[in-house]
Amino acid sequence: MHNIRKIAKDYYWVGASDRRLELFENIMPITKGVSYNAYLLVDEKTILLDTVDSSVSRQFLENVKYALNGRTLDYLVVNHMEPDHCSIIEDMVLRYPELKLIGNAKTLQMIKQFFDFDVEERFVTVKEGDTFSSGNHTLTFVLAPMVHWPEAMFTYDVEEKILFSADAFGTFGALNGNLFNDEVNFDKDWLDEARRYYTNIVGKYGNPVQAALKKASTIEINMICPLHGPIWRNDLGYILDKYNKWSTYEPEDKTVMIVYGSMYGNTESAVNVLATKLAEEGVKNIVTYSVSNTHVSYLISEAFRCSHIVVAAPTYNGAVFTPMENFLLDLKAHGLQKRTFAFIENGTWAPTAACQMMSIVGEMKDMKVVEETITLKSSLKESQVEQLENLAKELAAELTA
Ligand code: FEO
Repeated sequence: MHNIRKIAKDYYWVGASDRRLELFENIMPITKGVSYNAYLLVDEKTILLDTVDSSVSRQFLENVKYALNGRTLDYLVVNHMEPDHCSIIEDMVLRYPELKLIGNAKTLQMIKQFFDFDVEERFVTVKEGDTFSSGNHTLTFVLAPMVHWPEAMFTYDVEEKILFSADAFGTFGALNGNLFNDEVNFDKDWLDEARRYYTNIVGKYGNPVQAALKKASTIEINMICPLHGPIWRNDLGYILDKYNKWSTYEPEDKTVMIVYGSMYGNTESAVNVLATKLAEEGVKNIVTYSVSNTHVSYLISEAFRCSHIVVAAPTYNGAVFTPMENFLLDLKAHGLQKRTFAFIENGTWAPTAACQMMSIVGEMKDMKVVEETITLKSSLKESQVEQLENLAKELAAELTA
């Protein structure tokens, strides 16, 4: 059954949600599902803005057909070529044989890479600032390379002041009927997943995101329509501020994130003592994660949120406990900057983890490292509690200053 919503004059949301997919990009757990948004402009010309993942294509095709109300589809604007929005382009062409595709030169190249049908004969190439009239609406195109792929672009409706922002401002999470940000408690129910989505998918590309935000700041926007999650139609400053922080690697919260690996609970016991000492020193909202049972996508997201990060891990095969090494390498790959790190290592005969963890963090930009590393030999001893107290005091002094 069709399931659409009118979102503005002549515009319909025709997307769909998936609650069956376990891993987004076959990497990130999506326990709350995900939505694939697509938007249809029904004007003198009919123009679809993006499509959906093939997993929800049946729902989507029904939606489009219903919203077209007997008309054919004239154009498909391809803002982003990742297959979660594009895997059914060829199906659309088969269904609507006269369909023309609108994209930039890089889009064209990518469509030809993914598909074998004759793309060029039906492709309309647009450049930055080009306009396209649907009759009563003027669309213009804003290139947003690396947000999240090189071909990514935004489409802007000049009259309605709607920005179709591709992956930007998207979030994990299936839609629950409520489609607009003012119909949900975004801060309470969506922000964590929006951060996890941004940091894991676009986190590395802070500079391109900054460039896109700069372009967006020059246009008046009434509504932001992303490809995932709620549509923004008020309080735009809230999400723009989050994007500004995330893309400049500024922490959202001044607090400590403790990430530990612990094979038998001894390293865990030490970080629990540290957490209590931090609290006694006045640090609030401390978060503690076991690296072994927390998916790395959550750790990346929390590392982007928190200002101070304590990592604690055993030595393993003469190297760093593998899940911790994976986390730090992943964090480096996502380009996090501007954090304070402290290190705790454990080892029964040859503790070497701290130096190797430091070496990974040392390759990241603008990281401050607390000078004293704490080395445990199998388990925390009373004689070392003072070291934890000193570390807690040092971190607290920065956080409560
Ligand atoms: Fe939602 Fe980069 O695709």
